[in-house]
Amino acid sequence: MNALSGRKVVVGICGGIAAYKAAGVVSQLVQRGADVRVVMTRAAREFIAPLTLEALTRRPVLIDLFRDEPLGHVELAYWAELVVVMPATYDIIGRIASGLADEYLTALVAATRAPVLVVPAMEAQMYENPIFQRNKRELEALGYRFVEPEIGRLASGREGIGRFPAEDKIVAEVERILTEGSRLRGLRVLITAGPTRERLDPMRCITNRSSGKMGYALAEAARDMGAHVRLISGPTPLTPPAGVDLIRVESAEEMRRAVLEHAPDCDWVLMAAAVADWRPKRPLAHKESKLSAETLTLELERTPDILKELGEALKGERKRPLLVGFAAETGDLVEKARQKLEQKGLDAIVANDLSQEGAGPEVDTNAVTLIFKDGRVEALPLMPKRELAREILKRLADRLDRA
Ligand code: C5P
Repeated sequence: MNALSGRKVVVGICGGIAAYKAAGVVSQLVQRGADVRVVMTRAAREFIAPLTLEALTRRPVLIDLFRDEPLGHVELAYWAELVVVMPATYDIIGRIASGLADEYLTALVAATRAPVLVVPAMEAQMYENPIFQRNKRELEALGYRFVEPEIGRLASGREGIGRFPAEDKIVAEVERILTEGSRLRGLRVLITAGPTRERLDPMRCITNRSSGKMGYALAEAARDMGAHVRLISGPTPLTPPAGVDLIRVESAEEMRRAVLEHAPDCDWVLMAAAVADWRPKRPLAHKESKLSAETLTLELERTPDILKELGEALKGERKRPLLVGFAAETGDLVEKARQKLEQKGLDAIVANDLSQEGAGPEVDTNAVTLIFKDGRVEALPLMPKRELAREILKRLADRLDRA
């Protein structure tokens, strides 16, 4: 058995000279036991015959959205565990990034929830074109994975970036994504995200700068790794990842109730929410007019510490979920986080270094240090929150498996 055995991969071949090399990759995937279905764009057929791919996969190649089996692209979109687009041309990347679904491959990519791996190959001047780079960045931000092209001799005979990568590199990336895709298979993961909002009067509230991006990225990554995800979210304008069970809450108290209700059925609880520490002791029933007083004194009280309460409630339970906290700190990061881990009875804590440029709330990047109950410490460098989410989950799975 290897990582590819029986795995369902759709390969979309596009109209670039490297289409013949993509056939080599398909052959490798088939030889390693993957169940490969090939979709070709119209342009791809100018470069290589469908028969080549049919012979390699022993399956019909799909081409025509209207003539091939009706709704076949939708069925294939559900069937796929991974979609590989190669060679991905300037044009196909532009079409996918624009949301077009104008032929079999683009319609299938639009309809799938499987990860999509894009392998661009083109002339350097097209690759470096700012429109292409913008499309690539946008797709990356949406979770599309890319294998970077190589620098070398291009179809025009010129040297530059844009060469189709070596077969082995692509096959390794396919294996990596598929292995990662089942890393949390069957686990029930509860994730909290975003700020909480504590009511002062019917109009005003106390909240914080948390955007929810880290928690939402974790929810998406956990889903992609095969987990059943329940996301308990404070107020944020973010779109929840598809396929995730979303519970919206406002205040710390509402979040507390939702977490205490759902956590006992879960295998992991990741508390990425920035729960407000204080709330108005006596919220006002009516909006306080600014004309009624020059100053207003607020009395605040502590909110419940959800994680701590959960840790205590589950103490001694035979089957207790793993509890993971998140701590945003400045200075003495590891020590402060370690104290929280102990106080709250956690299995691990993810400490966020707020003093580092590019890390923290609102931005799309973050740098964290993972601290485990057994004292192990693992620092992860600054990276996009999406990528970081995958790295955090992988490390938690590795360590906690062994615990
Ligand atoms: O104590 P501090 O807020 O720094 O701890 C952070 C961790 O505790 C986070 O995982 C956060 O979601 C959780 N927390 C909580 N209830 C609170 C405050 C924080 O569960 N009232």
